[in-house]
Amino acid sequence: MRDFLVAGNWKMNGNSTANAELVAGIVAGVPEGSGFSLLVCPPFPYLASVVAQAQGSAVKVGAQNVSEHESGAFTGEVAPGMLGDIGCDYVIVGHSERRAMYGETSAQVAAKFQAAQAAGITPILCVGETLAEREAGTTEMVIDEQLDAVLGTAGVDAFATAVIAYEPVWAIGTGMTATPEQAQDVHAHIRGRLAEQSAGIAAGVQILYGGSMKGENAAGLLTQRDIDGGLIGGASLKAEDFLAIANAAAQAK
Ligand code: 13P
Repeated sequence: MRDFLVAGNWKMNGNSTANAELVAGIVAGVPEGSGFSLLVCPPFPYLASVVAQAQGSAVKVGAQNVSEHESGAFTGEVAPGMLGDIGCDYVIVGHSERRAMYGETSAQVAAKFQAAQAAGITPILCVGETLAEREAGTTEMVIDEQLDAVLGTAGVDAFATAVIAYEPVWAIGTGMTATPEQAQDVHAHIRGRLAEQSAGIAAGVQILYGGSMKGENAAGLLTQRDIDGGLIGGASLKAEDFLAIANAAAQAK
């Protein structure tokens, strides 16, 4: 019913030469079949060249962040319209690294989500709890606050053209993956939260898992009922590793 989306968040890694090699490797190795799409999210300076290189292939391109403003005196920021202008299809909003290190609030993330959609870019809304929050038993409360900020401003219908990524902060870059059951529980909770407002939207929205996902654990996660793909950091920086996850998605369909 829902297609898989396998997305690479390159974070602040790469250079022109390495990126060209990585994209060439991914494009050459896109698995046969249907029911999934691939996305790469390079740093801003490389977006246009990656868009050009991926053109005509099955690989889409997204950004890692965006301004909530349309244009104007916002030194150092990138407007949603600019992303659309150079051929980006997606943007990640509310990644935990931006929430934790750059003080992005849920309200600001909601504004970015809406600004992206207004420019025709599909937002990938990241939500997730820290280890302390999980141990305190507040995982669902934390996720609800992050989700509700967007539901409250953009409305549930906005999720017809959005993606959600559940990224437990304790699993990001740590090698500690959530078990398929732990991830499935939270994915089901997220879908349920949307279903309280619209069963149809909830049934259609892609919910990706992120946090130390790799070839070896991808199949276990992707065969869970409510997991519709991955948002991959470390394992998206080598074509072979990224394609191992893409292959798991192609086979899980
Ligand atoms: P890792 O796959 O490196 O844990 O990163 C996950 C992530 O933060 C993707 O956005």
